[in-house]
Amino acid sequence: MPRPPAKEVPRWRRGKDIDPLLSAGRLSGRDAEQIARAYARIAPQQTAGTKAEVNDTLARTGAWRWRRHTAPFIWIACLLLGAYGLRLTAHPFAYAMIASVVVPALMFWGTRHLSPYAAHTSAAWGVITSVWLPSLASLGFSPPLPGLLALNWAVCAALWVRHYRWRPHAPEQPAPEPAGDEVTWARLTAERKWNAHLGTAGKLGGGGRRYPIQCDGIKTTIGTVLAASENIAGAWHKPMTEAYAERDPLGITSRGYLTILGRESLMTVREWTRTGMDPQTGLAVIGRYADGSDARVKFYTPRFGTKHALISGTTGSGKSELLHLLIFVALVTGWFVPIVLDPQEGQSLPFWRDRVLYAAGVDECHRMLRGLHAGMLGRSRYLSGLRWDDEGIAMRGMPFFDYELTGLPMPLIIFDEAHMALKGTTKQERGIVEDVVEIGRLGRKTGTALWLATHIPGLTDLGGEQALRDMLRGGNVVSMRTANRVGGPMLGLEKDPSEIPKFFADGKETYGLGYCAGPDNRPDAPMRSDLVPKAMRLQVPPVPVLDDRFLEAMDAAMGTQGVLLPSGEVPQPAEPDGEAPEGRRCVDAVWQVLSDAGKPMERGEIIKWVSELVTTGWGREEPFTIRSITTALKTLTDSGKITKDPNRAVYQAAER
Ligand SMILES: Nc1ncnc2c1ncn2[C@@H]1O[C@H](COP(=O)(O)OP(=O)(O)OP(=O)(O)O)[C@@H](O)[C@H]1O
Ligand SMILES: [Mg+2]
Repeated sequence: MPRPPAKEVPRWRRGKDIDPLLSAGRLSGRDAEQIARAYARIAPQQTAGTKAEVNDTLARTGAWRWRRHTAPFIWIACLLLGAYGLRLTAHPFAYAMIASVVVPALMFWGTRHLSPYAAHTSAAWGVITSVWLPSLASLGFSPPLPGLLALNWAVCAALWVRHYRWRPHAPEQPAPEPAGDEVTWARLTAERKWNAHLGTAGKLGGGGRRYPIQCDGIKTTIGTVLAASENIAGAWHKPMTEAYAERDPLGITSRGYLTILGRESLMTVREWTRTGMDPQTGLAVIGRYADGSDARVKFYTPRFGTKHALISGTTGSGKSELLHLLIFVALVTGWFVPIVLDPQEGQSLPFWRDRVLYAAGVDECHRMLRGLHAGMLGRSRYLSGLRWDDEGIAMRGMPFFDYELTGLPMPLIIFDEAHMALKGTTKQERGIVEDVVEIGRLGRKTGTALWLATHIPGLTDLGGEQALRDMLRGGNVVSMRTANRVGGPMLGLEKDPSEIPKFFADGKETYGLGYCAGPDNRPDAPMRSDLVPKAMRLQVPPVPVLDDRFLEAMDAAMGTQGVLLPSGEVPQPAEPDGEAPEGRRCVDAVWQVLSDAGKPMERGEIIKWVSELVTTGWGREEPFTIRSITTALKTLTDSGKITKDPNRAVYQAAER
């Protein structure tokens, strides 16, 4: 506890410094004053009104209460006694004139160590004494002198008592909030034995404030503070979403932040701003932290590749809504091709069922993953031989993925309810796990992102594959409220998402509330995901298509089922066959292949022979796209020129 400045202690009191806390049991007026000074010093508004706070505090301590108020009485008593004594002498006026010089000088000298107010008042009283002493000594106590003296004294006494408080001002008034935070923090650190103090508060909206925490880094680190997140929230009597500590985003372990918010900062739902990913940084806003700043995830890094993500949370916590938002972000950006895997038979994201590539049910998910895996390997093959220009240096093979260098769209695999397909018990599920792990491993360099949502981020929900979880965690982690405790190693979060309250104070559910360990480096700050405005459902951005190479590899791997194309309106890329002359169109090539074969052919076979025919026989530079061949097959089937096996993708010319 800091000592009062030495000049405030008169020489005759020095050496008798008493620890005020130790002597709390026998509190003297001086000790009460010391405590009051120390208490007032804690408050940050020390600059203004420190004396007033000390006096208020002193007025509250019974031990001190009347001590200073006696000063005007002592002064008037001494003045009267002095005047009376002078009147008894042989030359009252002469002696009084001497006294009127000596007494003010003594009063000034004897009180110079006191506070400026006391010293100045004492000097003023000395001057008044120098007037009254000769008057009383020579004229005596006959009227109107006593009345005038009483009036003069009453004014002086009233000013004195006004300054030193007759009773505390508004004793029930609570301490102002910043002072309260300091005191609460001091109590918390004393109780937890932390060596950490708060810096100057930064103001946040809605009455919130954010303090830097500085730990000594030896006995206490920010990790020690974070481990007691429940105590921090408890000390301010708030939920953990309104009073919380977090690490310094720069990763300095002796520093952090304490955020105290006004009520319900995350209670209001924020709408998505309809902005996509920033092409320079690959960052996209998906929500906001409790202090109002944007919560972002990373989709992609130029000359590096894509980022994966692991999203977890109990049922109804907001995972699918977040995936819905991510699809919109991807489409607005225009670089990504969302591919939805929904083992829950298409119930998780039904809005996208006819709009993007969509696999519903475990079987379709399995086939789609086979196709994606093959497409990804095909792209790896292509990138390994790609010739490109690296700032003037001719390069062959690209050991990373870059959208702008390759112009290839990036498949964004949205795998909701992944635990349903990743049990790993049946042969099919084991195949799914293998493909997903491979996509996780190789996806980055081929521009394939895997955004996987599951209820519990435990290994049982991830096919027992630690490698899969590690790869997903290497990207973004978003954890909504979980039903049970989620251990640190599962997600790399220090806060437990199961501690997120189920309801806000007004009884509304805390949908979309969670933690995000992403590029903001704020895994300890609660966030809430943004909600896609309903109106966006009528303004779905164009869905890009995958490049033909990727689609062909997918198609070949998916066998007779082919790529599960969305049935809705999807913008088509500029098709070269649209400009082809009569007799050289895609439909002509398909018809020629089937009529020449004269036997049933599988779709994959048709695609292969059509490509062969048009590139070698017709001399086209590029083969027709799979989409064109699929459309041609449909046109010919509809016109009755070819027939299709009702159970399989097998076609035959109706006539030669
Ligand atoms: N950020 C948010 N703000 C407001 N409401 C939200 C938010 N996120 C989700 N919701 C609402 O919460 C409800 C549940 O969300 P959602 O279906 O995404 O949960 P889920 O985690 O996918 O659940 P399940 O695992 O059962 O599929 C929905 O009504 C959704 O509109
Ligand atoms: Mg869901």
